[in-house]
Parts: sequence; C-alpha cells; structure tokens
Amino acid sequence: MTSHEQLRRAFLDFFVARGHTLVPSASLVPRDDPSLLFTTAGMVQFKSLYSTTGELPYRRALSIQKCLRAGGKDSDLENVGRSPRHLTFFEMLGHFSFGDYFKAEAVAYAWEFFTKVLDVDTSRLWISVFEEDDEAADCWRKVGFPAERIVRLGAKDNFWGPAGTTGACGPSSEIYWDLGAEHASGEIGRGPGRDDRYIEVWNAVFPQYDQQEDGSRPPLPNRGIDMGSGLERMTAMLQGKSNVFETDVFRPLMDGVKSLTGYDGPEEGEALVALRRVADHARALAFTLGEGLVPSNVGRGYVLRRILRRAMMALRTLGVREPMLYRVLGVVGEHMGGVHPELSERAERSALVVKSEEERFLRTLEQGVGRYQELVDGLKSAGGDTLPGEEVFRLYSTYGIPWELTREMAGDEGLQVDEPGYRAALAADRERSQAASAFEGADPGTDEGRYTALVEPVPASVFTGYERLADEARALEWRALGEGGDAPGRELELVLDRSPFYATSGGQIADTGVLRVGSWELPVLDVARRGSRLCHRVRLPEGLAQDALLELLAAGAAIDARVDAARRQAIARAHTGTHLLHAALHQVIGDEATQAGSWVGPDVFRFDFNHFRGVRPEELEAVESQVAEWIVANLPVRHESLPIAEAMERGAMALFGEKYGDVVRVISVGDISLELCGGTHLTASGSMGQLAVVAESSVASGVRRIEAYTGLRAHAYGQSARSQVVELSRRLHVPVDAVADSAAELQETAQQLRKDLEGLRLRQAAARSDELLQPVGEHGGVALVKGELQAESPKEIRGLADALRGKLGDAVGALLAEAGGKSSFLILVPDALQSRGLHAGRLTAAVAESLGSRGGGSPALAQAGLSERGQFATVLQALGRLLEEASTGKDA
Ligand code: SER
Repeated sequence: MTSHEQLRRAFLDFFVARGHTLVPSASLVPRDDPSLLFTTAGMVQFKSLYSTTGELPYRRALSIQKCLRAGGKDSDLENVGRSPRHLTFFEMLGHFSFGDYFKAEAVAYAWEFFTKVLDVDTSRLWISVFEEDDEAADCWRKVGFPAERIVRLGAKDNFWGPAGTTGACGPSSEIYWDLGAEHASGEIGRGPGRDDRYIEVWNAVFPQYDQQEDGSRPPLPNRGIDMGSGLERMTAMLQGKSNVFETDVFRPLMDGVKSLTGYDGPEEGEALVALRRVADHARALAFTLGEGLVPSNVGRGYVLRRILRRAMMALRTLGVREPMLYRVLGVVGEHMGGVHPELSERAERSALVVKSEEERFLRTLEQGVGRYQELVDGLKSAGGDTLPGEEVFRLYSTYGIPWELTREMAGDEGLQVDEPGYRAALAADRERSQAASAFEGADPGTDEGRYTALVEPVPASVFTGYERLADEARALEWRALGEGGDAPGRELELVLDRSPFYATSGGQIADTGVLRVGSWELPVLDVARRGSRLCHRVRLPEGLAQDALLELLAAGAAIDARVDAARRQAIARAHTGTHLLHAALHQVIGDEATQAGSWVGPDVFRFDFNHFRGVRPEELEAVESQVAEWIVANLPVRHESLPIAEAMERGAMALFGEKYGDVVRVISVGDISLELCGGTHLTASGSMGQLAVVAESSVASGVRRIEAYTGLRAHAYGQSARSQVVELSRRLHVPVDAVADSAAELQETAQQLRKDLEGLRLRQAAARSDELLQPVGEHGGVALVKGELQAESPKEIRGLADALRGKLGDAVGALLAEAGGKSSFLILVPDALQSRGLHAGRLTAAVAESLGSRGGGSPALAQAGLSERGQFATVLQALGRLLEEASTGKDA
C-alpha cells in the first residue's frame, strides 16, 4: 500500500468489516458545541454519545474527520512549516466505541491493522500508555508487543480531553513510529513523547470520565474508545518519509505553489518553511471558506485572517508581491476535490474572498513591514531584544499586522515581543473605543459592597418584561450615583425584585419609563443588569428627599413600575427589523453575511455583518424590497424557549462567540427567520410599518454596517427624501426623474465656470500688476514691492502670486493675501535674485519666526499665516532688515 487514498480505503474497509457504522465527517465548525472554535478531533461530533443515557444510534462508529487546530491555546499554527508533522488542517481517521468494546479490543484491532493490513516493520513501533494504566500495558503485552518498547507517560501525553471544556475524557495509549536515530532531537535516551525521532501516528483514548464545569469527573455512562490517527502522518510512515510534506498528500500542492510563484530555488531554510506554510494554510482556508466562514476580526474569522496573513507573509518570502494565495486555493481544489466535492461548491466565492483580503492586506503590508523593519533596526542598534508592546499594537492597529505575526517575524530574527505590554495597549484601546455611557461608567463591577440592602435576605431580580409592561415591585437595594445630597435632579440606582424593564443587552437599548412610589413619580433613565440584579437608574422628583424615599422603600412600599410602552414598541420594531434584514441579506448576498454585532434603539438600528466588500446599491434595494414584502405579508413573530440542542437542530442562527445557556430563547418570523435572541419583539411583522436603509459603510476590514429606520421614522425619512427631490425638480425646472442628470450637468457647468474665473483672475492680476504692486523702497540694494490679493482659495492665491512673480523685474515682492477669511503673507523672489542667494522659503521662515509662527516654501515663492492683517507692516519691516543683512554677507 502506498498512496494516501489506499490508506483511506483500507482503514474504512477494516473497521466497517468489524461492525462499525461509517459516519461522514462533521463540519469544521462544531454545530452544537459553543465551547469549541473548530472541530479538533473525530470525537467532537460524537461527544454526547459517551454521556447520554438514552438510545444510541450506533455503538461502533468510524469516520474520517476534517480537523482544524489553529486557534486559542493550540499552538499548532506556529509550528507549521518548522516541524515535520504539525498541520493546521488535517484529516483524522477514527474508530469509536460507545459503551461497546474497550481497551483489549481496541489494542487488538490496532495490532491487526498495523501488522496484517499495513504490514509495517513492527520493530520501529513504540507504544505509550498512561503511567497508572496497567491494564492498557497488559493488553499490549498480550498481543505480543515487546515490553521494552512500551513506555509509561504522564497526563500531559497520555490523558486526553475533554475537547472543549466539558465532556468525555480518559487515559490513552499511543503508537509511535521511529524515524531513526538520524532524526533524534535531544539527548540520547529520550523516548517517545520526548523526541522528534518518534512520531505519534495512532492515539487510542479510553474515555471513561465525564468532565463537569465545576471540575468534578463522574464516570461516563458509556465508556468506550475514541481513536484518532492523522491521515497525513500515517501516509508519511507508509511512504517512508520523515515528514508529512514529502507525502503524496502534500507534494503535488508544494509543486503547485512552486509553479505558481515561479520559485525554483533550493527547498531549504526559510523558503522551505514558506512553501510548507503556503500549502498547509491554503488547505485550511479552502476548507473553512468552503464551509462559508469568512475572515474577520473576531472568533473563528480572526483565526482565518491570521492564517491568511501568515500565508501571505510566506508567499512574500518566496518573492511574491501580488495576490496569489487565491490561486493556490485552486490548486487545493484540483488536488483534493475528488474526495471533497464540497470544495468546488464555493470555490469561486472563496477565491474572491481571499483575493480581496490579499489586495487589502498587501496595500498596508508594504508600509507595515517598512515600519516593522525600522523598529527592529532601532532595537538592534540600541542593543535591545524585545519589541515594546505599544509598537506591536500600533503595527496591528495601523497596518493590520496581527501581533502573532509580529512575534513570529521577530522570532525569526531572535527577538521577542512584549506580550503583556501589547495586551495592555489593546485593552486600553478597547476601553477608549467602547466609550461607555455615563451610567456604565459608574458601574461598580464586582464591587458588591456599594449597594445598600433595603430587605434581608436579598433575592435575585426577576425580569417580567416579556409578558408585561407594568408590574408591581419592591426595592431590594440601592446605591448613590455621582455626588450625594438632595439637590433636585439627583440620580440613584434601585434594584427591584421584579421588573418589566428590559436592561441593555444583546445590542438592544434599555427601556425607559417611570417608577411610582405612592404619589411620587421617578423617571427611569436607564436599566442595567449586573449579575442577578436589575438596576434602574432613576431621578428623584422635586420635593422628595432621598432619605424619605429610602424610608418608604425599606418599609416595603409597593412600586408601580411602568415601561414607556410606545418606546418599547418602537424598539421592538427595530429589533424585529434587524432579524428581517439579516434574513434578507442571506437571501441577497449569501449565508456568509452573518451578524457581527448590532445596536437597537427606538425605530433605529445598526446592523454589522461579515462581508468582504461594500454592498452594491442594487443589492441594498433588493434587501429593502425583500423586507418590505415580508412586512406586508404580516408574518407572525413567535417567541419560544427551547433546549439549545433543539434550537441548533432547527437551524437557529446563533452569534459566534456568544455564550448561551442550556435553554435559549428563539425568535422566529414566519418561516423566513429563526434566531437565538433575548430581545423584545413585535408579534407580527406588519406592525413594523416600514424599514428604510439609510446608510451602508465599512466598520472594520471585512465588516460592513447597515443603518436603518423602522416605523414612522422610516416613513418620515422616505417622505423627506421625496420632498427634497420634488423641491429640486421645481428649482431645476425638470421632471423628478431628470433631477440627477440635471444636477450632474449643473456641477459640470459650475466646475467649468470656476476654471474660467480663475483664468480670468490670473490674467487680470497680471495685467493690473502695475497697480497691484507698489514699491516700498530699497534694502541692501534690492528693491522691495508690496501688494494685496483677495481670492477664493489658497490654491488660487498661489496661482495669482505666481503670475505676479513674473512681473517683479528685479524686485523682491511681499504680498498680503486673504482667502476664506484667513490672512497670510507671501514672499516672491524672481529668478535673477535667486542666483544672488536670496531664497523665498528661508526668508519667509525667518519672518514667520519673528512673528512667532511658521512658514516656508520654494526658493521662488513661499507663504506663512498671519493672525491678523495688521501684522503685514511688521512683515515688511522684518523682510527689509533681512535683505539688508543679506547684502552685508549674512545668509538669507
Ligand atoms: N481525540 C483523540 C485525539 O484527538 C483521539 O481521537 O487525538
């Protein structure tokens, strides 16, 4: 057996023949495990089968799972290209038992597969078992494996899982392939797991514990087997290669990269690392983009962007300076499309996404790399070895170079980066950009002590606002906001036991309204949830002292809490609007236009989504029309609470990176939208009235923002736009549908006229130069003339001044100029005087300095500002003095 395709087949045949159900690879994005960024092992899709007590679909399974190990704490990404076996994307052969066979059978299967099917040289195999696992060691001895090549390792090597934060885990037993003494990487005598000489090719995990959030590990209901084996490493073993890049999995890709880039140098050093990285990263991108993911600045998208930019840096090492990676994706498709037809489905779109990322990154990269080099040079000449965190952050914020990339580039030169410093700079920036409202600014965070209890014990607040807009509440706690005292308008915060007020969350703004206590009315200005508290920021009404209020509340006074219902309804229109917009974007642009953030206020919202280019006007129109149809269809909006697994199964859209509880709220609109959402919504789409998109823009690389109005606000927006067009048509004396053409025509005419006028002014100035320029005596043998100019713009001033310069003869000119309400002066030096050493720029700088300002320009003409026109007299005096000095030999 030699090709990796044969290995694939042989593995499947072997385990199917032993009663295993073949299950297709799950997607790279775990659909029902929010604790995992990507699918990192074959067992991810089977995780729940180990812990369920219900019916199992099968007790033996096998799969060849697409895996990605690149994010979070996995450091595989950084090893790629330098290590003989690390990959970001790889395929994992796996066989599984759920409450069926255990260690003995798993070991026997492995042995049979290695000796009978693969027929490898068993003297080059080593086995590792968990140090406490005598049973596993026994199983290996029983199949006849020599005891001297069975090693016992600790939990770091031989205890696996859980994938994510909870679930199945247990000891494992691994098979290592000995590459030979020439590949030893450490002191002699270091064994498997300690030396690159031994490459792990087979990992049989014996899941038997169920890791809980709280750290405890009860036994699994269905203990079993989770075996994973990298297809690429096994291929290397079979093909007698010491690294995965030399196998028939990678060789054609590497050759493809070489022919695309034209790189024909030796495969060694940094070039080799780069070739490998490009091949590996292109596979990762082809598969993730093939699943509809897009590069962005958060979560999975950020991992993709990092991979993409690292691949681009590697291409740079190979001498590539234009977009090229998108073509490497094509090579991946050609090579792997046979087994993975899903690659071709989105191939065109993936190429487009990558190309546009490449174009964008290349533009900033050149500057970024220049800046990086400057930093490194500076650092080296100062004898330092650590790039400051601030600078690393600036490379990221200004040039888009991810800090990990900076660290790698620096690492290649033996330098380090100050990671804590970088994180601090990043955090400071986030704080700045999230400019919290004054209310949030007063957030005590975890400082519980700042609340004063009004009842004992203090229960948690209950939100009742999904069902009602008014409720009877009691106050639990309070705290002062800002300065103390009883001044009118004073604000404080009340925590209520139950409240119909929606607290800011999930992008939706808080409700406002009133709290009535007896005959007093306290306006509610804002509401925040802090842990289990619902905190209402209220204003004390005139005449009610804080102490009097607190006395009432401590005595258990009933509070009539009333939400401003009209405002709540306006917020609901906007929130349901975001869901309709989201669904329409999916229809018009595609599923990849996923939500990246939102802000929802009364009849107004912002909606951010992933998209690699601007939305075209005709697409926006189509989105708006689609939403309009759904509004008119008056689709029912349903609110349900479901277990998260069920919601996911029904295809609910969830936000990546959001945390959800076990039971989630699901909002559906007809059958066109299904989203996990905690917000408040309409009950039917028709009451939205209208939705008008008012702006589309970019908020970050790969993230677009749509701003929209709903309800009467949308109506008013449309009406005002229309009436402006009608007004324009009246003024322009053209029909409404000719307004745009007519305006364009007007613009053209205006531009032409402006040009004509400028020309005219120039000619006039030249013709009137005799009147404009008046002699003001002679200094150091040089005649000085002065003049005054008025113009529309600074540009016109310089044009006029230039024209006058030709009329100076042998004199130096000083002009007072006024444009756009600002005064300035200009100094003109004719060619003849320049050759005698007079320089307009230097003269101007010197004069300006004596006025306490700055200025300069060319030897012929220079300009500087004046704070008021009266200063011109001083300019003339100073200039005269400078000319005298120049004649006596000093520099001017
Ligand atoms: N889950 C184990 C691994 O990833 C075996 O499949 O290695």
